[in-house]
Amino acid sequence: MNNKPIGIFDSGVGGISIWKELQQRLPLEDTIFLADSKNAPYGEKSAETIVQLSIKNTELLLDLGCKLIVVACNTATTNAIDYLRTHYPIPFIGIEPAIKPAALQSTSGTVGVLATRGTLSSALFHSTAKNHASNIKIIEQEGTGLVELIEAGKASSESARQLLRTYIQPMVASGIDHLVLGCTHYPHLIPLLKEELPAHVKIIDCGEAVANQTQRILEKQGLLAGEHGLTNHRFYTNADTSVLTTFLNEAKGEVSVSYRDF
Ligand code: DGL
Repeated sequence: MNNKPIGIFDSGVGGISIWKELQQRLPLEDTIFLADSKNAPYGEKSAETIVQLSIKNTELLLDLGCKLIVVACNTATTNAIDYLRTHYPIPFIGIEPAIKPAALQSTSGTVGVLATRGTLSSALFHSTAKNHASNIKIIEQEGTGLVELIEAGKASSESARQLLRTYIQPMVASGIDHLVLGCTHYPHLIPLLKEELPAHVKIIDCGEAVANQTQRILEKQGLLAGEHGLTNHRFYTNADTSVLTTFLNEAKGEVSVSYRDF
């Protein structure tokens, strides 16, 4: 048994979609979440810079006593998780676009992946696509500008709807029957996506799979927390706290959101 917190980081509020799944799956765990909004979007940065930012976030979470780190960001996972796993002695759970389940379920043989440039250009994304989706056609689309709108609290705005349309309409016209959300910010757009996508196009987001994998690793390594009173969830952002706070209305336990320079 281990009551130390789970660390989670993202380039901003995207990882909250993963944090929610973790909280549901692992209700006894304390968490510390870093929203590196000051440096968002990661998706437009070089692989080297993404690795450096991931190191900075990891070291802060280690200083704060985390027992495991969830890299709640596809861009950081696909560019930096190998480095993190070889340089730090704790388990890391990552997230990458769920093209394997989409390929297995597709009947049209064409799936869309909406992700950041950093993810779509990464070696890990290419090897996953080659190994698990070589029998289907993948339509890749960079979601340029979407992260900025979500970080500004405009996930349900008319500008987000217009931008999404320009990204999904060509994919729909190409015959996709699955749309893989390859960025943890994009689940915040699901209400809009459901309105904009034809009913036969299934949205694939793997937040739940990340929570399941986290549980498996905690169990396997004897790191699960036991009953220890009210759970504690600390959120640190290096930008304005107000947008982050709006995503936490259903959070249970003792929750704090603070500004921190990191
Ligand atoms: N939420 C992130 C991801 O899953 C990063 C988005 C960004 O900062 O570009 O890719």
